[in-house]
Amino acid sequence: MSEDFSLHDAIYNCRAMRRIKSTDVPEDLLIELIDAANQAPSGSNSQKARWIVVRDPAVKQELADQNRKHAAPYIAADVAKPGNPKLKRLLDAVVWQMDHMHEIPALIVACFDYPEKVEGLGVYRSAGSVWPGVQNLLLTARALGLGAAPTTLALRDQDAVRKILKLPETFAALCLIPVGYPMGNFGPVVRKPVAEIMRFDRWGA
Ligand SMILES: Cc1cc2nc3c(=O)[nH]c(=O)nc-3n(C[C@H](O)[C@H](O)[C@H](O)COP(=O)(O)O)c2cc1C
Repeated sequence: MSEDFSLHDAIYNCRAMRRIKSTDVPEDLLIELIDAANQAPSGSNSQKARWIVVRDPAVKQELADQNRKHAAPYIAADVAKPGNPKLKRLLDAVVWQMDHMHEIPALIVACFDYPEKVEGLGVYRSAGSVWPGVQNLLLTARALGLGAAPTTLALRDQDAVRKILKLPETFAALCLIPVGYPMGNFGPVVRKPVAEIMRFDRWGA
């Protein structure tokens, strides 16, 4: 992270960037993202997170097809009748991502390598040993001026994803992060006020 770009800046300006240019990202930056992800903690320091950086157009297309298959029905009702302008803006970006995912320069898939094949809820059992790495990656992308967004809809059919990426059957794919140079501007995240989501000592009075 550069000296004039603090960790605080990255945390508070790390919006999900879905509209991404097709311009290639230098390989050393992609490796830097994974190296940062790899510094994250894991349960018992198991270090079983695995990262596939997909650049091959044919493989990207197959992942984009998976995303469309699961994202389209998930958002259909809201797209037909978005409740408010904020939701409409979010959905427009999700639809853009759905239409252009195959053109985004890198689709990074964060996996966990289990001792055996997992299905259903078992896929998420060790998710906590992957997501800290995902957040490291997102913050590092922000610091490097790269747009990124965590997504999960493309990964609903684990067997399909294992087949596309030639994953060992013990791998579960937990997060797909499209990465590249953003079309829009970075900006601050908007979240609930801390007073609403925090209490000292006990939740109830
Ligand atoms: C566990 C998880 C799953 C997500 N899945 C998707 C997804 O499948 N597709 C998508 O477009 N965004 C997905 N997101 C991104 C969220 O929609 C986004 O982080 C949230 O709306 C906040 O956006 P902001 O940081 O731009 O304010 C996911 C985020 C998380 C943490």
